[in-house]
Amino acid sequence: MRNWHGEGIWYGADYNPEQWPEQTWAEDVELMRRAGVNLVSVGIFSWALLEPTPGRYVFDWLDRAIDLLHDGGISVDLATATASPPPWLAHRHPETLPRRADGTVLWPGGRQAYCPSSPVFRDHSLALVEAVARRYARHAAVVLWHVSNELGCHNVHCYCDVSAEAFRRWLRERYGDLDSLNAAWGTAFWSQRYHDWAEINPPRTAPTFANPTQQLDFLRFSSDEQRAQLRAERELLNRLVPQPVTTNFMIGTGIKYLDYHSWASDVDVVANDHYLTAADPQPQVNLALAADHTRGVAGGAPWLLMEHSTSAVNWQPRNVAKTPGQMRRNSLAHVARGADGVLFFQWRASRAGAEKFHSALVPHAGPDTKVFREVCRLGADLRALAEVRGSRVDADVAILFDYEAWWGAELDSHPSVDVTYTDRLSALHAALWRAGITADVVHPSADLSRYRLVLAPTLYLVRDADADALRRFVEAGGTAVVTYFSGIVDEHDHIRLGGYPGAFRDLLGVRVEEFFPLRDGETVSLDDGARADVWTEWLHAEGAEVLAAYTDGPLPGVPALTRNAVGAGAAWYVGTRLDDDATDRLVARLLAETGVRPPVSAPAGVEVVRRRSADRSWLFVVNHTTEPARLAVSGVELLGGARCDGELEVPAGEVAVVREEPAPVPATA
Ligand code: GAL
Repeated sequence: MRNWHGEGIWYGADYNPEQWPEQTWAEDVELMRRAGVNLVSVGIFSWALLEPTPGRYVFDWLDRAIDLLHDGGISVDLATATASPPPWLAHRHPETLPRRADGTVLWPGGRQAYCPSSPVFRDHSLALVEAVARRYARHAAVVLWHVSNELGCHNVHCYCDVSAEAFRRWLRERYGDLDSLNAAWGTAFWSQRYHDWAEINPPRTAPTFANPTQQLDFLRFSSDEQRAQLRAERELLNRLVPQPVTTNFMIGTGIKYLDYHSWASDVDVVANDHYLTAADPQPQVNLALAADHTRGVAGGAPWLLMEHSTSAVNWQPRNVAKTPGQMRRNSLAHVARGADGVLFFQWRASRAGAEKFHSALVPHAGPDTKVFREVCRLGADLRALAEVRGSRVDADVAILFDYEAWWGAELDSHPSVDVTYTDRLSALHAALWRAGITADVVHPSADLSRYRLVLAPTLYLVRDADADALRRFVEAGGTAVVTYFSGIVDEHDHIRLGGYPGAFRDLLGVRVEEFFPLRDGETVSLDDGARADVWTEWLHAEGAEVLAAYTDGPLPGVPALTRNAVGAGAAWYVGTRLDDDATDRLVARLLAETGVRPPVSAPAGVEVVRRRSADRSWLFVVNHTTEPARLAVSGVELLGGARCDGELEVPAGEVAVVREEPAPVPATA
């Protein structure tokens, strides 16, 4: 991995100078310096300007922009510019356009209108990467390369004939022969047996439910095709440039179809884009989940927040502006959770185009604005946090996350449309957030030995090796929690027979003989006072202790919550969808059992996260409430520069970062 760190925390934005007359550029650099910006992403959507006709490259404007930035002391994250092909590509090669499952062609005019499997697109894009790389490999401003942009954001699934051929190649590679494919896809069902590879297609719009394993494999293939573009560009860059390489992931914003856990090894630094959901009354909780997941994808290493917004976006139904202080809290919460860089989309708000109502660092109203003043304040904050760079986040809890389990869990023709993959993930993570506990969101194959508590929400699809790893974690003294609709199928989406939740039945000491999903809006009660909805099941405790049973609904008296002592640890099972109060109570019991505690106790709504290096630690305190918060902390508060001895006061809506003195001993030491 090439080093991507600078001297402190990176701070900046996408910078699109091509949208502005050159007179504006000098003012841009002057304002960037005023704000403390030290890194900008340049050239992301510049292909049509850099290569106006095939093979003719025009770099003079980009030379001038990068030189100007360099003169101003601002580093560049240089895009390969392949994010969106110029109109001439589709005009000359219409077969590069992507198609939906029903055959609809997606035309140019927006962005990303290319088939990810198109060799024509690949060749043209790599030629561009090579030209840009050769031009700027030695430019002193360039510290990082930015492959494409949000690969697969709009074109992840293409069903055209070129994609069909690529899918067949991918399947041959995976299965070797047709018998294996037929077995994996269960084609004995509904007369689907294939006798020739040429008969196989992507799961195009069909009269009824398409084969689920065909669907799952197509999702795997599609993620791999996007990843292939990343790998092809990175390999080329690695040959031509000395700097590190990244691309921006979209973890935690509902983007489902890119298996980022498998992509992480293809970048020198994991970079993520995160936007708040305006309709969410507590968006800081989802932000924390996205950041915890990004850190999990990065294997616990620091990562880069490549994009978020200073205020409103433009692509939601109602684009709510950030209130004063919210952007600062958002940014520093990302840093608390492992980001060593805070960048935004975009530097200057556009005059034209589809994103002209998206916020920026420099709004339409100019620098004399709340947004730009907050931008300058954040720049000063991040400068004061330089020493935090490279440190890691403390977490004793892991939540397992697998994109393939997500894909599988939400295929069609399942017991209930109300069972969605991220529902329990969000609910459990939010309960931990409320309890002040930081969790890593990791792939089931991650090393679990450093955790005390591991949660497996809705892990519908699980491999044998990953189920075994969870068992070993428990045997060695860990506490695991599995929620309903987990362990149901293997990697081919075949049911694990003998009773649910197949892969975890023995570990949990339970056997489910039948699912009893609830009707829309129907609720049930448990004999410990909990309320639940969506899901119940006919569960037998086979070794597990029953902690709560239903008092009503379709299964009165049947166990709903169980705990099984295994080896030196315990495995809990939650067979229904507990409401938030009951989830909070469950989490409180789990924390008491495992001894996991927040870094310091804090009032509700005050987020506290600890980062730690070999010999120092920093406590981030983000006060999301409208009241001042007092915490028992000693050390130096870096944003204000004052010492605190035993008591830290953080005013309403403010953030504090304390270098703790003395640094506390890690809980696991
Ligand atoms: C991201 C994208 C940016 C911009 C931004 C707006 O998805 O990478 O180019 O479109 O969203 O929020």
